[in-house]
Amino acid sequence: MSETQKILVTSALPYANGPIHLGHLVEYIQTDIWVRFQKMRGHTCHYVCADDAHGTPIMLRARQEGIEPQQLIDRINGEHRADFAEFLIGFDNYYSTHSDENRELASGIYQKLKAAGHIAVRTVRQLYDPQAEMFLPDRFIKGECPKCGTADQYGDNCEACGATYSPTELKNPRSAVSGATPIEKDSEQYFFKLADFQKFLEQWLDAGHTQSEIANKQKEWFADGLQDWDISRNAPYWGFEIPDAPGKYFYVWLDAPIGYMASFKNLCSKSGLNFDEYWNADSKTRLVHFIGKDIARFHTLFWPAVLHGAGYRTPSSVYCHGFLTVNGQKMSKSRGTFIMARTYLDYLKPEYLRYYYAAKLSGGVDDIDLNLEDFQMRVNADLVGKVVNIASRCAGFIHKNFGGKLSSTLPEPLLYEDFSKVTEAIASLYEGREYSKAIKEIMALADRANQYIDEHKPWSIIKEAGQEKTGQDICSQGINMFRALVIYLKPVLPELAANAEEFLNAGELNWHSVSQPLLDKTINPFKPLMTRIEKEQVDKMIEDSRQTMAGAPATPSAAKSSAEPVAAMIDYEDFAKVDLRIAKIIKAAHVEGADKLLQLTLDIGGEQRNVFAGIKSAYKPEDLEGRLTVMVANLKPRKMKFGMSEGMVLAAGPGGKDLWILNPDDGAQPGMKVK
Ligand code: 2FM
Ligand code: ZN
Repeated sequence: MSETQKILVTSALPYANGPIHLGHLVEYIQTDIWVRFQKMRGHTCHYVCADDAHGTPIMLRARQEGIEPQQLIDRINGEHRADFAEFLIGFDNYYSTHSDENRELASGIYQKLKAAGHIAVRTVRQLYDPQAEMFLPDRFIKGECPKCGTADQYGDNCEACGATYSPTELKNPRSAVSGATPIEKDSEQYFFKLADFQKFLEQWLDAGHTQSEIANKQKEWFADGLQDWDISRNAPYWGFEIPDAPGKYFYVWLDAPIGYMASFKNLCSKSGLNFDEYWNADSKTRLVHFIGKDIARFHTLFWPAVLHGAGYRTPSSVYCHGFLTVNGQKMSKSRGTFIMARTYLDYLKPEYLRYYYAAKLSGGVDDIDLNLEDFQMRVNADLVGKVVNIASRCAGFIHKNFGGKLSSTLPEPLLYEDFSKVTEAIASLYEGREYSKAIKEIMALADRANQYIDEHKPWSIIKEAGQEKTGQDICSQGINMFRALVIYLKPVLPELAANAEEFLNAGELNWHSVSQPLLDKTINPFKPLMTRIEKEQVDKMIEDSRQTMAGAPATPSAAKSSAEPVAAMIDYEDFAKVDLRIAKIIKAAHVEGADKLLQLTLDIGGEQRNVFAGIKSAYKPEDLEGRLTVMVANLKPRKMKFGMSEGMVLAAGPGGKDLWILNPDDGAQPGMKVK
């Protein structure tokens, strides 16, 4: 095995304006498996991450909720931490880019770049919202595509014809913030002169720091010469003010990757690690970033150039992965396949997903598919049917007949050797992120172990007179093969491995434990290590996602929850189409099988409506009966799993317990129009 290495590992920083979903988890699970593997091999490995807490979408989202950005990012930080912890993502530090460390590092890097002549200042003409009094990011401008004329397109590209353009080219542009027509306005902006680093970047991309398809794609940018990168934004902006430029802020993508350094710096202050050892230009440590292929440009052009220009070390590896599809398609809110981490956790165990993703992941950038039927079948067949089954078939006999004691030698040492001699081969698959190949090897071993037990039938041997010792040997052989499988699966299944360690009663398993079988030791009684996935659990999760996500705003990419603009403005004519009525809740009831819905019977003046409302987290049915509320009376009836929903009750609030149905004052009568 190679010498002990010091490795700093990161996953991309999730935006602090939305929850973690199964698309995000591809990356965190991929990284976590890699980190756990490195630690098991005896390397010193630190895994840091943080929330990406700056930018216009976060500022506007906080405004929309009527809270300060700090409150929003604190709340989301808590939610993200909880989701990651439950999925067993073992960060050594999870921080926020809105931190003192990040402010200092970002300012310091900017000043070093400026002193070295890599910053340019130029006047730029941009679209400005005169009503909201702010410059508009591309995603907050909508209008007609300049190429094909399709309405309602964003300021950077057209979803209908694929054209890319600048927002000033849009026809009839509108601000998505206020609905006003933007005007063009000049302002000074600060640019990072990327072209200064062209030679350096060409060499860096050729040196194998990222996958060749990613490197080749980035090299296409060299053809027309590298453009300066605008690293500033005008106030109002939620971020760090640029030190010598009042009213100008660092663009979120400048300080986001610096957040990797800041999170590590924060870890150093808590643990006594040496920051410089990991970040100085001559560092001997490894710096490894895991990211999605959509943000490769930031990590393989801007980021290495910024680090190099400011005198820091550059990344050793930028490992890109593909996106997630569910049942072969983009995640979809209406199909219920846009699944939040929290919704998944309400129905299924995290290790099921960790295993399934591992069984699908490779070192390449292809998308991976979560086929829900295959997911259930594979987890049940491989983990429950093969791996856990070996231990459960052998442990009982060892306890019943031999007081839990394993034999002092193995009856088939050569068979065990087949399990131990592949240790380096499996290690190199993990190192190269070829997890699906590693899982294939491991499951082939699991098949051999089960075959051995089937052939030697300890359950009948044990009954034969004078054959007890043979039975003990067979079961000891089986348990040692199980132990080898657990060692190889430990990076993927840390909880199962911890429970197996408890069962084997011989301390922590690491990568080298496989070289020595467990002999002449007393093991603990066996407790079930994993239960089967039932179809019902998956169905319920999908139905819950459908309900939770119905009406949620469209998300630009199904693979990641990138920042979402606030809802687009509508014309008065559109609003006038909505028939809002006072409704009296005559009956409210739980809906069997629905965790979030209440069934309401509403009286809108001589007419009754049946409506399913997602307000169960906030109200007991008995507290609603007799109350007045506001409903949309002309929403087309919608067929739901539980029946027809004939309208929508209006409620406000962030969700959970903090959700209030709109409650008109006394005097309103059922059926009255709301104006
Ligand atoms: O694309 C995203 O979700 C970004 N928040 C990732 C940032 S990664 C790093 F650069 F901070
Ligand atoms: Zn178009």
